[in-house]
Amino acid sequence: MQRLGAIAILALFLAIALVARSPTNPVLARAIEHQLAHPQGDAAATFVLADYADDLRTLPIGVFDSGVGGLTVLEALKTFDAHDNATGAARADGVPDFRDERFIYFGDQANMPYGNYGAAGKTDFLRELILKDAAFLLGRRWRESVDAAPRMDKPPVKAIVIACNTATAWGLDDVRAATKAWGIPVVTVGVVEAGAHGLAATRGGRTGAVAVLATKATCASNAYPKAITKALPNAPEVAQRGSGSLAASIEGDPAVRETSEQIIDAEVRALLRERAKSPGAPIDTVVLGCTHYPLVESEIVGAFARLRAEKAADGSTPFGTLVSDKLLVVDPAHWTAQDLWRSLASSGLRLPADSKCGTERDLFFISVANPAWSGTQFDTHGGLTSDFKYGRDAGDPGREDTVIVPMWLDRLPPSAANLVRTRLPAVATSLRETGH
Ligand code: DGL
Repeated sequence: MQRLGAIAILALFLAIALVARSPTNPVLARAIEHQLAHPQGDAAATFVLADYADDLRTLPIGVFDSGVGGLTVLEALKTFDAHDNATGAARADGVPDFRDERFIYFGDQANMPYGNYGAAGKTDFLRELILKDAAFLLGRRWRESVDAAPRMDKPPVKAIVIACNTATAWGLDDVRAATKAWGIPVVTVGVVEAGAHGLAATRGGRTGAVAVLATKATCASNAYPKAITKALPNAPEVAQRGSGSLAASIEGDPAVRETSEQIIDAEVRALLRERAKSPGAPIDTVVLGCTHYPLVESEIVGAFARLRAEKAADGSTPFGTLVSDKLLVVDPAHWTAQDLWRSLASSGLRLPADSKCGTERDLFFISVANPAWSGTQFDTHGGLTSDFKYGRDAGDPGREDTVIVPMWLDRLPPSAANLVRTRLPAVATSLRETGH
């Protein structure tokens, strides 16, 4: 009898331990199970578990974004120089810190904008997409073209950089929890946390409010206010403004009729009007909380300055006291490079000085809509229709209504290709070297 009691107590403890270990979020639980069911990486969004049993230091670094905007973060990674490469000391030496590392970039272009899934009530689907992005980087599976059979020779990665603010906001914790559950020692860095660290490092004695400009979904998650509160002991007031169209407009999406300048003016104006209702400290810092916004930094700063000086009919300046005359601008991309460097160093994953990365060149991938998947609906540009895109629900991490193929500079929408060529020279060079 006593023995039976002991067994029952043990079983109860085991059950409690299992429940405590299994994630409460079904999206995360399904992604974990999906991988555990495919340890050979033989399904979409899975990886070869054995790839992570050896020394990971010579593997490339994975970077993903909802599209091409994250190439701004890759540019920052490729040009970052804050350390002496030989000694690791915190002193720029004129040599990019990640010069000998290689990157694998993935832009989930077919499923973007990520920033609009929240308003469509589809954050679970967004979380599933983000976990699939991470699994793609970890895995070997890719296709040469949309109708080709999958190949299994993409290198796995030792680190995941979530270059997308929206994806960091909604998926950083999931990706970390999943990699932990899978038992793989990769590091994961997210652009939102990094931005908050950058704010803490550069804010100095400023006491004003911080304006975060981002997508609607990033703002809805409150990821920036939370990360800022965590990073700064005397957390400043944070005013957020999410745009549903600015990122697309910067990329030159023909569906957006207003210019980027018009959208920026409207968004900054809306943010200031909101603040005018209960004015606090003047805004003295702006966080560029979306991958695309560093490309329009001067327009954003210009809009704050113009509106600060704007006169109403009675000659007053309604926004004059809401904005400081000097703005500190925080670009989280730069600080993501800093966080990545530190994370690789502290986990012993930097490429050893006498070694070469196992991958000769950077590799670039992009998702495209898959006509072979039953039910996919296409718009006139060959992308998924908005109804199809935002009508989907989480539940099948292995679905392949989009597939992942190499990114070719010349096959990007001309405006996006032009942005890369003119504004992201290190990335453009790397794409050319890759033959793309
Ligand atoms: N990459 C996204 C971000 O940084 C912007 C584009 C999108 O909404 O997908 O939040």
